[in-house]
Amino acid sequence: MKELAEKIKSDLLEEIKSISSEQELVELKAKYIGKSGRVTELTKNMRDYSVEERKEVGMISNTLKTEVTEIIDAKTREIKDAILNEKLNSEVIDISLPSTKIPCGAPNILEKVIEEVEEVFMSMGYDVVDGPEVEEDRYNFELLNIPKGHAARDAQDTFYIKGDEILLRSQTSPVQVRTMLKYQGSEPVRMICPGKTYRRDDDDATHSHQFMQIEGLLVDKNISLCDLKGTFDTIAKKLFGPDCVTRFRPSYYQFTEPSVETDISCFACHGKGCSLCKNTGWITISGAGMVHPNVLRNCGYDPDEWSGFAFGFGAERCAMLKYGINDIRTFYNTDLREIANFDRRDGEE
Ligand code: DAH
Repeated sequence: MKELAEKIKSDLLEEIKSISSEQELVELKAKYIGKSGRVTELTKNMRDYSVEERKEVGMISNTLKTEVTEIIDAKTREIKDAILNEKLNSEVIDISLPSTKIPCGAPNILEKVIEEVEEVFMSMGYDVVDGPEVEEDRYNFELLNIPKGHAARDAQDTFYIKGDEILLRSQTSPVQVRTMLKYQGSEPVRMICPGKTYRRDDDDATHSHQFMQIEGLLVDKNISLCDLKGTFDTIAKKLFGPDCVTRFRPSYYQFTEPSVETDISCFACHGKGCSLCKNTGWITISGAGMVHPNVLRNCGYDPDEWSGFAFGFGAERCAMLKYGINDIRTFYNTDLREIANFDRRDGEE
């Protein structure tokens, strides 16, 4: 029996040398210590042995089983280590290889201009507020003193969503109404609202069916056109430099009285006349004026007690002037080369 056990062990040691996979090892394990494996077979005919013999066979087979298990376990570890090492070697990262370049994005130029304007107004105590792009006729027109059928609507034809009451706002001015209605004459208002606006315009170099405006409104006691002039002057100097000169020209808007166009002296030629200012020396920046008493009244502000000014300018126009862009479609045609261009121009500033 002892010799047989020795033989089994030496056979195993011989056989295991050629094993190199986990699968082969599983098979080898079954061959030796499986249900009908060679070690298990040793104790098969126990009942034919005497008590003494049984003791001896039991001891020999148990010792053998332990040894066989240890041999197989050691081989298992060896194979697992080999597999892991191979994996580690094949997955080695070559840090000397050149990396894949991920293109770096640039901030949207329009957003940058808007943020700059926001900063300037916030430093003067204005809130930045938001309003819906899908708007009601009464906010976009009626409460702004532009009744149905009024000729002033012609210049602001827009897209209608449902019947003629729900539309895409043609201007950010409805946010003036919404803000005043919120406070109903209970407190002064100082806000700006940058946002998207829509018009049924054919797209060309200076028109887009969707563009951005920045609206502003200040309502308080004893506000006059002088306050508007002072505010505009301060802001123009902050945005376009300390040499910037400003002027007002009479204009007409239904929701302001009096109404003005605000101009800045041309920063390209300093007023001498060039192609940017069409040889006038001046560049128009926004429409503005004193809030019309009807609008104040419509929004719960008594015009005998309150007065205010409002303004609205095109964000793209500002960005176009600032960055020398001559086509508004540049902002919306998703040409990445243009964005890279803006980024470069900005870096030069
Ligand atoms: N909403 C006007 C437009 O789109 C611009 C404007 C002019 C806004 C005068 C104002 C204002 O607040 O006072 O043409």
